[in-house]
Amino acid sequence: MLTVDNINLHYGAAQALRGVSIIAPMGKITCVLGRNGVGKTSLLRAITGQHGLSAGSITFNDTQLNGMAPYNRAKHGIGFVPQGREVFPLLTVKENLESGYAPVARKDRFIPEDIFNLFPILRSMLGRRGGDLSGGQQQQLAIGRALVTRPKILVLDEPTEGIQPSIIKDIGRAIQYLRDSTGMAILLVEQYLDFCRELADHVYIMDRGEIVHEGPAETLDTPEARRHLTV
Ligand SMILES: Nc1ncnc2c1ncn2[C@@H]1O[C@H](COP(=O)(O)OP(=O)(O)O)[C@@H](O)[C@H]1O
Ligand SMILES: [Mg+2]
Repeated sequence: MLTVDNINLHYGAAQALRGVSIIAPMGKITCVLGRNGVGKTSLLRAITGQHGLSAGSITFNDTQLNGMAPYNRAKHGIGFVPQGREVFPLLTVKENLESGYAPVARKDRFIPEDIFNLFPILRSMLGRRGGDLSGGQQQQLAIGRALVTRPKILVLDEPTEGIQPSIIKDIGRAIQYLRDSTGMAILLVEQYLDFCRELADHVYIMDRGEIVHEGPAETLDTPEARRHLTV
């Protein structure tokens, strides 16, 4: 289980996170919803180690992550799919997948067959450059690359952003399959409410750097929850 306990995060004098606490249990899909600019990516930067905390703590399966470098967090099983995908455009699909080897033990440096079962398009495009793929294909590649690191928790930042509906469905199915078949924890950050309501076991809503709502996915249909999500 990932436990984020009462964290603050600052960019210089500007505070982006205020006393944020969430948990993401193993074998569950946990979703953090919120409008643009409320601090979702900042929360994931705190979890993956790309930005330091000014208060609070983050633990994963009893390991204290505070102060640990991103590379070591990856070794501890934190797999990250960044917003905007960050696929290497000039590397091939295969090379992009292999870029996930860094935190992995030598014996595990191969591409798990499951990745191609989830996203068959990646197998047929192994020799193509990342930059030649569509947005949806790049998103599948970014998820595949994170899976190469053998994560115990998969953290995804707006995987549906700018992606066509048929591929959104494929990604949703893949996320459910991963939860059910591997028991990994999934932490999904989104603006797309319907996607979260369908997938999530538990949801949080963020507004202006704070958690303002928490509950089972069905609670997203309450007026109180909607109020935090409408512009
Ligand atoms: N590197 C940065 N430096 C300064 N301010 C930032 C930086 N990144 C994000 N912010 C600010 O922090 C707030 C939260 O941003 P972010 O976490 O990216 O929100 P979200 O992912 O929900 O859109 C916003 O006001 C944003 O402008
Ligand atoms: Mg963001």
